[in-house]
Amino acid sequence: MVRAGTMRRYLLLAMGSALSIPAASRAQSNKPSDPDARAAAVEKQMTDAERVTITHGIMAMQYGPTKIPGGVILGAGYVEGIPRLGVPALAETDASLGVSYVGGVRNDGATALPSGLAMGATWDPDLLRRGGATIAGEAQAKGFNVLLAGGINLVRDPRGGRNFEYLGEDPLHSGLLGGAAIAGIQSRHVISTVKHFAINAVETGRQFHNAVIGDAALRMSDLLAFEIAIERGDPGSVMCAYNRVNGASACGNDGLLNGVLKRDWGYKGFVMSDWGAVHDLDFALKGLDQQSGSQLDTKLFFGAELADAARRDKRYKARLSDMNRRILRSMYAVGIDKFLPTKAPIDFEANARVAQDVAERGLVLLRNRDVLPLTAKAQRIAVIGGYADSGVLSGGGSSQVQGVGGPAVAIPTVGGPFAAILAQSYQRSSPLDAIVARAPKADVVFRSGRYVADAVAAAKKADVAIVFATQWMTEGLDAPDLSLPDGQDTLIAAVAEANPNTIVVLETGSQVLMPWLDKTAAVLEAWYPGARGGEAIAAILFGDVNPSGRLPVTFPASVDQLPRPKLPGSDTIEPNFLGYGKPGQTLDIDYNIEGADVGYRWFAKHHAKPLFPFGFGLSYTRFEHGALTIVPGTVPMARFAVTNTGKRSGADVGQVYLVGTPAGETLRLVGFSKVKLKPGERRVLEVPIDPRLLATWKDGHWNMTAGMFRFAVGSSTAALDPPVAIGFAARKW
Ligand code: BGC
Repeated sequence: MVRAGTMRRYLLLAMGSALSIPAASRAQSNKPSDPDARAAAVEKQMTDAERVTITHGIMAMQYGPTKIPGGVILGAGYVEGIPRLGVPALAETDASLGVSYVGGVRNDGATALPSGLAMGATWDPDLLRRGGATIAGEAQAKGFNVLLAGGINLVRDPRGGRNFEYLGEDPLHSGLLGGAAIAGIQSRHVISTVKHFAINAVETGRQFHNAVIGDAALRMSDLLAFEIAIERGDPGSVMCAYNRVNGASACGNDGLLNGVLKRDWGYKGFVMSDWGAVHDLDFALKGLDQQSGSQLDTKLFFGAELADAARRDKRYKARLSDMNRRILRSMYAVGIDKFLPTKAPIDFEANARVAQDVAERGLVLLRNRDVLPLTAKAQRIAVIGGYADSGVLSGGGSSQVQGVGGPAVAIPTVGGPFAAILAQSYQRSSPLDAIVARAPKADVVFRSGRYVADAVAAAKKADVAIVFATQWMTEGLDAPDLSLPDGQDTLIAAVAEANPNTIVVLETGSQVLMPWLDKTAAVLEAWYPGARGGEAIAAILFGDVNPSGRLPVTFPASVDQLPRPKLPGSDTIEPNFLGYGKPGQTLDIDYNIEGADVGYRWFAKHHAKPLFPFGFGLSYTRFEHGALTIVPGTVPMARFAVTNTGKRSGADVGQVYLVGTPAGETLRLVGFSKVKLKPGERRVLEVPIDPRLLATWKDGHWNMTAGMFRFAVGSSTAALDPPVAIGFAARKW
């Protein structure tokens, strides 16, 4: 049996070199030497009072009686430093999509990357690394040294309110992309988190719901995504989630924090709580290192109370020292003490180009009946709905980013203290303007879509009708179903009936149903496409950019196909942004129903035909895959050729799936590679296969059974080439 740590180091080396990640951008590179030794030396010099300084922070926004100290930059959080020892304060901002706007309290703007699912749809770790570096650069220039990014919870339910902050439904895909984004952030000497640990898949009752799932299933799904992201990105911090996992609060979960994260994975950074997720002092013993946003908890646990416990109880004393060392270690490893954030001008133009790049590679063309790309024949164009005359939608909650000048349109959904972050806000990037700019000679009209008859009349007079449909999603609230809200399904059906050249552009937080699909000529899934979303959409519609996004989630054909057709708690728990319920209210969510068979694996197991499969996306060119060879080894390698057999340059995502093990049929993404090809160009791809994806987790180990394993290359889970088989010996680690 190979030891787990040895195996992990070997895997990283083998897989890193096989992916030819440039040495300079690997997670472990560029680090100041020996952060552990420095952390230990500084911690030793701390007085007892100083030891409970960096163990807690406040929410850096006026909320309740806690006064925000002068000089603190308003944002998500603030942790005081210890100037005597040169320990920097932590200035924390959300999140994965850019420096969040927090309702405009700072009176500034930032570059919004497209949503997490759009980033996931790029299947392009290098691009995400660039995106991470871009938003971290902005964070630094605004004075922050922590970005609460790295959202990689697996999409287990398309109704999950925060799906737009996450990358997809597959652990390898989310882990590799999330790890790359984190590495990009930290390359700018800004600490990144990875969050929300773990299985924070829906928002209903988010403060108390209990995710119930067996150990093996969890290790092979959500935890595997975190494990891979941590190996790849080496984040300074892990943010534990609000919810409970198998009974215990995620932030006071001994098994998850002390057991899996710190013992089994050897994680050396620190665990910070989510804001308002600490319920007891003993969370410190369970593995939590820092209490964040403490005014949202019932009290400050990790201050005087912790100091007092450390004086009386050896276990707390040892933990307190460890907590400090872990936090310091991350500061030194990422270098935030050397590369101080300094307020500096931001090149928004350059950064918007990165956001546009992500959008152009992450938008997914789902249907095209010879209408796209648009040509000069489209002389009369009717643009309908979705505030397309003003901007593109963004998601709500703490992760919301807005550009300079704030949102183009903000439609309130609630009043009260959260009104600003819960408004349906649009980025200042108008698809209508971008379409007009691209087709200056065409007669382009716009209709809001509020009245179906009005939209239909405009569509009838046009050569092409482009309907923009939106589904606003937010942290704190789940969608009740998979329809498009505000009667948009009816609007699309009527417009498509009136004009056979109807193109639907979806700006959705997650998967939706499309009852009108067969009537349309084309559908483009644009997610929340970020700061330059309008331009990216127009570039794809007119063929300046060849679409190359592939779905990172399965689109179901109905809710009945989901593991839980009824959203748990939807009939008992009142929608509540903070996630509280009535006193004593509980909610168990049974994730053992699908276990590790998340998303496409669930569909495959039940022979259910989705509306659109995982991995799917159309292009304006064609790709052919050559025969697959599996090269054996500790890290086996999949080798196959991709040829662009069409007439345009484009990018393909070669996807390799495990389709059979000695135990029988299965379906599992084991590797992928995105490649750009000119017409006629052929390239041989080599994709390493992480052996964990060939194994099952049992009794504390990964186990591979001896026998034949079958693999297939595909352009989605529903379009797989004939499989090839290879025998492997039994292995355990
Ligand atoms: C969210 C976190 C976020 C934190 C700080 C919480 O409500 O769950 O993702 O980082 O707030 O704003």
